Amino acid sequence: MLCFQVEGAFGLENLRERELPEPVPGPGQVLVQVRAASLNFRDLLMVRGHYDPRLPLPLIPLSDGVGRVVALGPGVEGYDIGERVCPTFSPTWIAGAPGPSALRLTRGGLVSGMLAELVVVDQHALVRPPPYLDDFQAATLPCAALTAWSALVTHGNVKAGDTVLTLGSGGVSIFAIQLARLLGARVVATTSGQEKAKRLRRLGADHVILYTRDQQWGRTVRDWSDGGVDLVVEVGGAGTLAQSLKAVAPGGTVAMIGVLSGVSRPINLLPVLMNQVRVQGVFVGHRQAFRDMCRALDHHRLIPVIDRIFPLNNAPEAFRYMASGAHIGKICIDMGKQSTPEI
Ligand SMILES: NC(=O)c1ccc[n+]([C@@H]2O[C@H](COP(=O)([O-])OP(=O)(O)OC[C@H]3O[C@@H](n4cnc5c(N)ncnc54)[C@H](OP(=O)(O)O)[C@@H]3O)[C@@H](O)[C@H]2O)c1
Repeated sequence: MLCFQVEGAFGLENLRERELPEPVPGPGQVLVQVRAASLNFRDLLMVRGHYDPRLPLPLIPLSDGVGRVVALGPGVEGYDIGERVCPTFSPTWIAGAPGPSALRLTRGGLVSGMLAELVVVDQHALVRPPPYLDDFQAATLPCAALTAWSALVTHGNVKAGDTVLTLGSGGVSIFAIQLARLLGARVVATTSGQEKAKRLRRLGADHVILYTRDQQWGRTVRDWSDGGVDLVVEVGGAGTLAQSLKAVAPGGTVAMIGVLSGVSRPINLLPVLMNQVRVQGVFVGHRQAFRDMCRALDHHRLIPVIDRIFPLNNAPEAFRYMASGAHIGKICIDMGKQSTPEI
């Protein structure tokens, strides 16, 4: 089978195309022929060695993808040949709080990733994506969509009439805008430029602020939302948290998801305690939440936003495109075997 793997040392220049022996599913495992995959910022960090430089090489990256079951190992129950499935981000995390293995054993890290024609997956680490989505759209769900869902639904308890703040126009944030609208919330979004701002408005943001022109965007958000937002989908990290704490309403929640602008910086904690702000870490999500999300997507026919699709043999270019930050929503990989939606 063809795959791309990081070999020898971390770095995009060491992401090499290889022909490897076909993997064989063991007891309780299925063999999945990958149809489409998608990139997350975490995959770029992973390939560069910035996520965890102690991870063993070679490493096949990408957590997100979709494929068809092409072989069953002994003892597999509940899956048939030909079924369309998405492997989960944390194969051992079924529901509840994440245990140590859920955090450690993740796909595209210690667990072999989706940038390969074939992957072996435990039968408990699979979710059937909604049939109305094509393969590229379905490939965006396991990390990006589920993280936004966990922030808004599992932890954020967002309800109709709430106000949600999203940061930037990447994969997680675009899903957060779409899901917030689906839940009946108002959305205020930040972004870097006018063109992206126009897209965000078209995608459902009620108000967009250019953080490149308004350094005090936290106060602007608070004023616009009449006292602060109920939930911040915080993907910026150390460089944006101070403004996010200005934007959130008393009693509101900051869902800490990403570190696009760094992981550590001094922070004034007074607004957190004076305003009784809940700072909630989010780590993707479990299989139960993934299934719940698929049911909601199916009901509302939410269409994931795909920016560009790269062929498998051009996978390194997809990583470079992500690094440029020019994208809106998701970047996908075409494994050359897509099918059309089933309905
Ligand atoms: N905790 C979790 O479970 C989890 C899950 C998924 C992702 N994440 C993290 O969440 C973050 C976003 O991931 P993603 O895959 O959605 O990324 P992505 O698709 O690459 O999106 C990045 C976008 O964020 C904006 N941005 C970049 N640098 C920024 C900065 N310094 N301040 C504010 N905005 C900035 C840019 O949009 P504009 O030009 O519009 O500003 C950029 O296009 C990453 O840090 C990722 O590691 C965490």
